[in-house]
Amino acid sequence: MGHNIFLESHSVNFAAREDQTILEAAQQHHVGLQKGCVAGVCRVCKLKLIAGDIEYRAGATVCLTEREVNEHYFLPCCAVARSDIICSTGSTYGAAAPQHPKEGVVVIFKERRGSVFVVRLKLSRYSRMEPMPGQYVEVEMGDKVCRSFSIANVPQRDGFIELHVRYRPDGVFSERLKEVIELNDVLWIKGPYGDFVLDESSNRHLLFIATGTGMAPIQAMLTSGRIRCDQAIHLYWGATCAQDLYFMEMIRDLQSRYERFYFTPVLSRATVDDHWPGATGYVQHCAKNRIGCLKNFDVYACGSPLMIQDAFREFTTLCHLPPVQFHSDAFYG
Ligand code: FES
Repeated sequence: MGHNIFLESHSVNFAAREDQTILEAAQQHHVGLQKGCVAGVCRVCKLKLIAGDIEYRAGATVCLTEREVNEHYFLPCCAVARSDIICSTGSTYGAAAPQHPKEGVVVIFKERRGSVFVVRLKLSRYSRMEPMPGQYVEVEMGDKVCRSFSIANVPQRDGFIELHVRYRPDGVFSERLKEVIELNDVLWIKGPYGDFVLDESSNRHLLFIATGTGMAPIQAMLTSGRIRCDQAIHLYWGATCAQDLYFMEMIRDLQSRYERFYFTPVLSRATVDDHWPGATGYVQHCAKNRIGCLKNFDVYACGSPLMIQDAFREFTTLCHLPPVQFHSDAFYG
């Protein structure tokens, strides 16, 4: 049985069967919705339900905050329609892609650090881009193909944005970075997007958890100057091997900037040859075991969907973390 979905913000209708999620139906009909983990964790896809009934698939993880639920947001990546529905993107931070015109940026810096490229893109003096720390941009690859990357700094007008791109031999953008893209080349970007941003009204302690280049949006938050000096900051950065901890000078800078800054690097695949004296295993387990109670923390987690799902489950069930205090941004790669 099928139902009609009217996406009011895009003025578009499409049909959704009861055996597919609303996000799957949107993709089938080429309706562009934001998507991230497709597992109910990152909240990137959230829509506001205006009329009609939805139901979540059995066993779905749904990481919406209490406020979002009260405001009738739902996650189309895990929800099926049980009637005709009307919904809207209606995001607080403008997750609807069409409202961002693309703009040209010039490559002014490119450096490979282990398996990661650090790239800086110069904004034009006419740029209206004012991202909040933690947001991301889309980089156009041609043929309407885009790749999303978190912004690792807080750009000023007529400044630059910094992206951290993991090199993968089959990665569309990273392969171009390695072989084709040179300094002074022009790229096209859109954004900023996303609501993985600091809750500046909170005075709770802060726990940041990143795997790999999930460090990028956290770096933007930590260097934004928007964290109060009386907040304790715990940063757990997970990598497979020591070379993947690619920005240690930034860590040293933070250690001198914040009095109560506690950094724990965690390697998941340290070998004997690494002579690694530090923590090993999964980054979320290490944070859970060392901190214990997270009742008075805001948690910001960025990395693989599996890490984020596991962190959300363990922190909220075993560490007394209220779900509303868990913020996440999941990505693949
Ligand atoms: S894509 Fe729906 S919650 Fe991540």
